[in-house]
Amino acid sequence: MKIAVIGTGYVGVVSGACFAEFGHDVTCIDIDAGKIERLARGELPIYEPGLENLVRKNLDAHRLHFTTDIGRGVSGSAVIFIAVGTPASRRGDGYADLSYVYAAARDLAPHLDGYAVVVDKSTVPVGTARQVARIIAEANPSASFDVASNPEFLREGAAINDFLRPDRVVIGVASERAEEVLRAIYRPLYLIETPFVVTSIETAELIKYAANAFLATKVSFINEIANLCEEIGADVQDVAKGMGLDGRIGRKFLHAGPGYGGSCFPKDTRALLRIAQEHGVACRIVEAVVEVNAAQRARMVRKIRRAVGGDEGGKTIAVLGLAFKPETDDLREAPALTILPALLERGAAIRAHDPQAMREAEAHLPGVVLCATPYEACAGADAAVLLTEWNEYRALDLAAIKASMRIPVLVDLRNVYDPAALREIGFAYHGVGRGSLPRFPAARILTAVAGGIGSGSASRGIA
Ligand SMILES: NC(=O)c1ccc[n+]([C@@H]2O[C@H](COP(=O)([O-])OP(=O)(O)OC[C@H]3O[C@@H](n4cnc5c(N)ncnc54)[C@H](O)[C@@H]3O)[C@@H](O)[C@H]2O)c1
Repeated sequence: MKIAVIGTGYVGVVSGACFAEFGHDVTCIDIDAGKIERLARGELPIYEPGLENLVRKNLDAHRLHFTTDIGRGVSGSAVIFIAVGTPASRRGDGYADLSYVYAAARDLAPHLDGYAVVVDKSTVPVGTARQVARIIAEANPSASFDVASNPEFLREGAAINDFLRPDRVVIGVASERAEEVLRAIYRPLYLIETPFVVTSIETAELIKYAANAFLATKVSFINEIANLCEEIGADVQDVAKGMGLDGRIGRKFLHAGPGYGGSCFPKDTRALLRIAQEHGVACRIVEAVVEVNAAQRARMVRKIRRAVGGDEGGKTIAVLGLAFKPETDDLREAPALTILPALLERGAAIRAHDPQAMREAEAHLPGVVLCATPYEACAGADAAVLLTEWNEYRALDLAAIKASMRIPVLVDLRNVYDPAALREIGFAYHGVGRGSLPRFPAARILTAVAGGIGSGSASRGIA
């Protein structure tokens, strides 16, 4: 089957390469000529494990093509996916910016030359597919097409596996013909018994927002429990394990830390709130989730401040990890983007390292000194902060790092390290929701406002 994918970001390239892997003839289209040139050579503008090999393999097999010529991609295609960005609007009101989606719809319309299904793969508010249908019908009244919604659930860093072995495929359609076409392109997934959820278009559009908002809720929930753990001397790692082993709750997304980030959760939770508001429906839980996430970022800044003695001014802080999560170079709405500027503003010097996000950091984190290795970042520092839990940071020579630091303070915002082992080496260790915090004078003032910080207990292991 001939397929067009409009937009070659994380979702567009992964979807295009995976559909080609299924055996379809896929053309990926973008307005960014530089990106297309690189992709056509088999070079990836983003870091995603395994993607470069998959793209190259399918380019070599002539099943995957990249072009800026939308006509070439759309003409003769049975399915056209819209996978362009839907960032939060620049107005700052939380609405998704749909201008790219609507531009793609207008651009593709004149090239429809036979029945085709135009599918929103981008995360879009309820009603967008109908609007896309109106735009296409207006631009090309004789076009024969259906619109559909097929939200994408892949996770950056594990995108290929998520696409080729998804938990489910959600298809929102308004005609049997469109359903048949979409089922046909996903046929290889039938063989591995992937559940298909076929719904109305509006339901499919909402499923994506509801799923992301629920996952964000788990993150904010465990972060509040972590804050409580710090007050009462409990260990959130153990609490999460004790909760998560209950099959009704599940262990995933119960990791306390600096709050969620990335290109999806922040904008999707805010967009869901706007959708609910427009329809006069209260979404108080999601409102709280968004507020708790912002408060968690601020709390992490205060945690680092306390760890360096109450004032970061003039201190050198090493930061390990900048991307919003491991295995990606994506810095969009990463905790680093709010935590680091707050520290810089109060006079800290920051030396940072990330295995993949250095290029992005150069553009988005002015004032941060980027270092070639985590060891270089930590040398001479007054504290080290683990911000992204890359695997390579799990196997660091922490004794060597300690020896190279001016003051051996480690703020582990991902609870990766064993507090007892770190203290044994000689570090002052601070995790998230893991019991005791040292009481510096400034922390006392803060705690008077916040209601006191408990001394807590050391982490206990669970067999
Ligand atoms: N990144 C993720 O992990 C993820 C996961 C699931 C869903 N989503 C959703 O998928 C959508 C795409 O996300 P992304 O992260 O891949 O976006 P992205 O910002 O990485 O890429 C979007 C691409 O679309 C291109 N583009 C914009 N307008 C265009 C036009 N008119 N014609 C052709 N190309 C155009 C841009 O040049 C860019 O290359 C968003 O709605 C997002 O919420 C993302």
